[in-house]
This record gives sequence, C-alpha cells and structure tokens, in this order.
Amino acid sequence: MKRAVAVLGKAYSPYSKIRVGAALLADDGRIFTGCNVENASYGLTLCAERAAVVAAVSEGARKFTAIVVATNLEHVLMPCGACRQVLSEFAPKLRVVVVGADGSRREMSLGDLLPDAFRSIDLT
Ligand code: THU
Repeated sequence: MKRAVAVLGKAYSPYSKIRVGAALLADDGRIFTGCNVENASYGLTLCAERAAVVAAVSEGARKFTAIVVATNLEHVLMPCGACRQVLSEFAPKLRVVVVGADGSRREMSLGDLLPDAFRSIDLT
C-alpha cells in the first residue's frame, strides 16, 4: 500500500491530472511499482498497472499474488479492461486492492473483475 501511494507521485499525467500508482507483489516477496504515463497522442497512455507488470517481467518476475492500485482521486479507481487482461495473463486469481485518497478501499479477485477471460489456452 505504501509503495503504491509513493509511486503515484511519479505519475506523468498532464492531461487528465489523475495520478495512479500500482504496486505488484511477486510470489518471491519482491514488489514492483508503476505509475500512469500519459502521452499527447492520448491513446498511447500507459496505465500504472501495466507499467508495474512491465517492470516486474523485465526483472524476471512472472508470478504475482496481489496488486494495490492507489489514486489521488477521492474515490477508488478500478483497473481498466486492458489492465485486467494483461494482469490475467500472469495471475488470473490475483488479489486486487484499490484505494482512494479519501481512505476508501475495496478488495476483490481479478477473477471477479474479468470472468471468462481470454487465455493463452484459447490459442491452441
Ligand atoms: N489509468 C490507470 O493508470 N489505470 C487504470 O486502470 C485506469 C486509468 C490512468 C490512465 C490515465 O493516465 C488516467 O488514469 C485517466 O484515464
């Protein structure tokens, strides 16, 4: 939780002004963080959750147990569909905790957020 809140301070979000920080817990205890990185070509914006996944996989981590998503908004921010799909690639049963700047908090499983996900097994 602390790491997610800390990294949202690094968000690059001059367009939406929304800051998002994600902290992804690997099964070996390591924590990988990411923030949202916007772009003048709006569609190229990278969400905090996917930034954290890229950081983790780049360091050799592929098994995850939990993610905390923090925001500067006064309510929780739910992971977008693209992030749900990317997280599901590595951890379909991931524990997801979302926290708002107002102290609000929700906790759920990624399986609840993305039921019947498209999976690699579907490619065979
Ligand atoms: N955002 C995230 O970082 N994660 C999400 O799951 C949803 C949205 C960011 C992207 C963009 O910088 C801002 O929130 C508004 O969409």
